[in-house]
Amino acid sequence: MDWGLKNRLSQIIKPATGRTVMLAVDHGYFLGPTTKLENARQTIAPLVHYADSLMLTRGILRTSVDASANVPIVLRVSGGTSILGKLSNEIITTSIKDAIRLNAVGVALSIFVGSEHEKETLSNLCTLVNEAEEYGIPVLAVTAVGKEMARDARYLSLCCRIAAELGAHMVKTYYCENFEEVVSGCPVPIVVAGGKKIEEKEALQLTYDSIKHGAFGVDMGRNIWQSDYPVAMIQAVREIVHKNTSAQEAYKLFKKLSANRQT
Ligand code: 5RP
Repeated sequence: MDWGLKNRLSQIIKPATGRTVMLAVDHGYFLGPTTKLENARQTIAPLVHYADSLMLTRGILRTSVDASANVPIVLRVSGGTSILGKLSNEIITTSIKDAIRLNAVGVALSIFVGSEHEKETLSNLCTLVNEAEEYGIPVLAVTAVGKEMARDARYLSLCCRIAAELGAHMVKTYYCENFEEVVSGCPVPIVVAGGKKIEEKEALQLTYDSIKHGAFGVDMGRNIWQSDYPVAMIQAVREIVHKNTSAQEAYKLFKKLSANRQT
């Protein structure tokens, strides 16, 4: 692995713990102004300080994050579809030149294994890996978005392994029963998405279970910024990811911070 690629990866997965808390704020690219992300700048600003990286599109990066914010950027470069159409029919939206111009430390693209557009999305991944590797930029493959397939270990193992085989340097997927099987079949680091908003206690348990069964961290969105106390929530998530704190202790911390009226 070349120096630049290793260096960028180390800005995503923190060498001190070998883990990462990525903050996903890319949802608008197919969901529009989704709840609590209507004004992305307002949502992102108080959280930036606690995120190891931000995952977002170039449009939200340019308009809603200060260039002086000292946070690594993982740029979502696939899209072109919406929840009203065929979600899986994505294209590569952003050139590597633009990713470099925006000083991204990584690029992210969705693959839709088992969908109508499986081949096109896997082909997008191959193209992106070929182009990004020219410049030492790691690629995060996002798997299993949408409702088309059951999110069980068998399916997620298939998605994650294919992503890694095609050259993804990291994979984002969902937590499931027997998650360790997904991890053991995937030779690159896996980060877990939070999914739809659930109770904070449950989201912290999901974080704990993911880490315990081999995830390198989370790339979490709604379960952080749709909480009534997003700053407290991201801090609680960090405690689990970087300090191996139990879900119960992290929830206690969440309650304490939110009682102090931290937003
Ligand atoms: C969708 C994404 C989102 O960033 C992902 O779903 C993570 O966010 P959440 O924790 O809200 O599920 O990549 O394609």
